[in-house]
Amino acid sequence: MHTVLTTSPIEAAEFIRNGGIVAFPTETVYGLGANIFDAKAVAKIFKAKRRPADNPLIAHISNVEMIAQLSDDITPHAQRFIQGFFPGPLTIVLNKKADVPSIATAGLETIGVRMPRFAVAREFLAACGTPVVAPSANLSGRPSPTTWESVLEDLDGRIDCILQSDPAEIGVESTVVDCTSAIPLVLRSGSISIEQLRSVVPETEIYQMAGCEAPKSPGLRHRHYSPRAVVTVIKNVDGLIFEEKTGFIGLSSPAIVFERQLVCSDAEEMAHSLFEFFRECDRNGIEKIICQSVEESGIGTALMDRIKRAAEQ
Ligand code: TXA
Ligand code: MG
Repeated sequence: MHTVLTTSPIEAAEFIRNGGIVAFPTETVYGLGANIFDAKAVAKIFKAKRRPADNPLIAHISNVEMIAQLSDDITPHAQRFIQGFFPGPLTIVLNKKADVPSIATAGLETIGVRMPRFAVAREFLAACGTPVVAPSANLSGRPSPTTWESVLEDLDGRIDCILQSDPAEIGVESTVVDCTSAIPLVLRSGSISIEQLRSVVPETEIYQMAGCEAPKSPGLRHRHYSPRAVVTVIKNVDGLIFEEKTGFIGLSSPAIVFERQLVCSDAEEMAHSLFEFFRECDRNGIEKIICQSVEESGIGTALMDRIKRAAEQ
């Protein structure tokens, strides 16, 4: 398959309307989209990404009215999250309507819904004229792509089109909050912090997987965000010694200079740069990446979640 590169949201949307799959930019990371009501197109996403079939997809919309096509059970908590954070980097999980194909939700009776705030994403989604399911546009297990070049690196020849735009502003994926039970549960941390969610629904909790129960968010089971290099986490840079083929990313400057090194001014900048730094290290034959930990509040919670998962081998 030849992958078409374009900067036109209209041209990219044409591929969706014709049953194709298209990578497009959002404020979090680039997504790989298909028409949610076209089960054959949705199947192509799983194949192109080599994504396990048990991992559900998020439906992306360009306006709030579109939610009615996906769910007729918008709970009062969900309504408050929509009012507070749509459009933006928040995914709400709702009970799905019967005509949403089960391949999109990996057999679950629920559907994740998100309205991106990035203007190019919204133009593209509006031109598609339908909710678009989209996981991150990386090969399964690899770091999520925050640039169109990284999408091309993973998916060239495997997808119909890439809508080229700026690097993603935020750099980590959306927060996923389940609104189908009495208390909203955060299934995946992201750029909307638990503190922000609680400012709208104070009883919101972080989901803790209980022993043998099936996980509420199947994606959490899978190995994720991993560069080829081995990732290790440290707190303090003082004791670091030079090692060959090693990279460093953190908020403090080590006394020595590593072959690849990124010292960020705050957690936001580090979140913005983390996945691209992982890929940059892989492109340059780096075998070990040292990540300095950050405080787990605000976006720091999501950042540490991604770093810890990348460090699990
Ligand atoms: O920022 C984002 O959310 C990006 C951009 C493209 O929008 N998308 C993204 O999708 O990160 P993906 O597929 O890489 O991650 C989706 C996560 C997975 O952990 C999945 O298990 C969870 O959301 N999820 C999706 N639908 C769900 C549902 N119905 N119930 C529980 N978890 C769900
Ligand atoms: Mg992903």
